Amino acid sequence: MQIYGIALEKGGVGKTSIAVNLAAAFSKVNLRVLLIDLDAQAHATSWLGVSPETVRPEESMLGIVQGRPLRSCVRPSLAGFDLLPAHPAMASLPVQVAGALNSGLFLLQDAFAQASTPAPPYDVVVLDLAPARGPVLATALSAMTRCIAPVQPEDLVLQSLRALTESVRAAQRVNPRLRGLSVLRNRYAPRSAGDQVYDATLRETYASSLLQTILPVRAALRDAAGMRQTVFAYGGSDAPEVRALFLNLVEELITLDGGS
Ligand SMILES: Nc1ncnc2c1ncn2[C@@H]1O[C@H](COP(=O)(O)OP(=O)(O)OP(=O)(O)O)[C@@H](O)[C@H]1O
Ligand SMILES: [Mg+2]
Repeated sequence: MQIYGIALEKGGVGKTSIAVNLAAAFSKVNLRVLLIDLDAQAHATSWLGVSPETVRPEESMLGIVQGRPLRSCVRPSLAGFDLLPAHPAMASLPVQVAGALNSGLFLLQDAFAQASTPAPPYDVVVLDLAPARGPVLATALSAMTRCIAPVQPEDLVLQSLRALTESVRAAQRVNPRLRGLSVLRNRYAPRSAGDQVYDATLRETYASSLLQTILPVRAALRDAAGMRQTVFAYGGSDAPEVRALFLNLVEELITLDGGS
């Protein structure tokens, strides 16, 4: 089971857009997929057609903290893969996680291990994280097999990337399955002069971590969210190009990690 966490402390870089459409792309190649919404903003949950007010707090990650089995909290989404939804009460999640045994570090790792007996129920799990560091990120990193950081050409993003790199290194000490950090360039125009300068800086430090797939600014990524659809269901004119990019990304990740 591959567990991909989409993380960066900087807000608005595309974490949720990538988590939702990457989950959809994995399910398009017939893998069994679970998306876990770890952000109290519940954007991924709403995007997948589940209104957060209809979710009971114990059906979210808060239930996992209380020791509920993963299976009893997940539900099918309209997009064809399973969802562990978020609830606004998850605003208290960092406190709840930090107060659990071992500062909650193994909550998700244990939940996946329990759900995987006798066999893993999913090939791929995608975690959509809040724009924050702290106990929830630490717990997620302890369970991930790869952390994916979306970056945009901005200085503040580079600062967040440095901090995340340190968190990933620390997590690798308790999670040997965590292969490392991959950097996914989002809202990128590789031919624009500004982005080229930024890209050179990025390559100096993260050359071996850069994913080859680059996501440009595309209306489909913005508008599909408003329609509560993944780009695979959305009919906008640039949707086919975005679908192809997400399928490329899936291929790249399967080459790196294997499919399940
Ligand atoms: N490649 C793209 N092209 C066009 N719009 C994009 C692209 N990537 C993200 N967006 C838009 O940027 C905004 C922020 O994206 P998103 O919500 O995915 O970021 P986030 O990192 O999850 O934010 P937060 O940190 O608040 O959770 C959204 O309106 C989204 O539609
Ligand atoms: Mg988000």
